[in-house]
Amino acid sequence: MSGLFITLEGPEGAGKSTNLQYLAGKLRQAGREVVLTREPGGTPLAERIRELLLAPNNEKMDSDTELLLMFAARAQHLSTVIRPALARGAVLLCDRFTDATYAYQGGGRGLPEARIAMLEEFVQAGLQPDLTLVFDLPVEIGLQRAVQRGRLDRFEQEHQDFFEAVRQTYLKRAKAAPDRYKVLDAAQPLAEVQRQLDEIFPVLLERSRG
Ligand SMILES: Nc1ncnc2c1ncn2[C@@H]1O[C@H](COP(=O)(O)OP(=O)(O)OP(=O)(O)O)[C@@H](O)[C@H]1O
Ligand SMILES: [Mg+2]
Repeated sequence: MSGLFITLEGPEGAGKSTNLQYLAGKLRQAGREVVLTREPGGTPLAERIRELLLAPNNEKMDSDTELLLMFAARAQHLSTVIRPALARGAVLLCDRFTDATYAYQGGGRGLPEARIAMLEEFVQAGLQPDLTLVFDLPVEIGLQRAVQRGRLDRFEQEHQDFFEAVRQTYLKRAKAAPDRYKVLDAAQPLAEVQRQLDEIFPVLLERSRG
């Protein structure tokens, strides 16, 4: 038995967390074991690294520090949660993964893609999501939703250009590997976004590691 690794990606307020729950419900109805998790985080230790990453801080965090903390958390998450879940055949739904590192630390912060790719190979040793859902929407709409939700974290306090670069990086990566990515129009009302998810759901069930 082998599992299925699905990641949900997209900028702030795109609806990743909301739709993770929706997909989990549908998968459970279909009789699959579902594991819900998120990055950065997903284990007690990795969640502590998440706090370091998200807390607004007086000391400016160096971009390389940020990148290494992301992958440090990911190494812990992979060994403790992701690999064991896939090994026992579960469907793993992960709220953000390495595509977010390319989008935020690469696109947003401007770190070289090759440096991220090097750490990706080191930490993941070839493990990639089977399917990545990109929740795409104009930057302003996502930020409005995030603001309505309350206090802004260290990333949400970034500027428009940063988020535009994040969005474009996601779209560029999706275009380069259309087999792995599905781009959803996340600016639509929630019911419409979920209709798009219903449409791709059969694909999602079909793909299992083999
Ligand atoms: N399609 C939608 N239309 C309108 N509001 C939405 C839609 N999807 C989600 N929301 C609302 O927008 C807010 C952000 O949604 P959610 O938390 O799911 O986004 P997210 O992608 O997980 O954001 P973050 O990256 O900040 O965690 C929530 O209040 C949610 O109820
Ligand atoms: Mg979320």
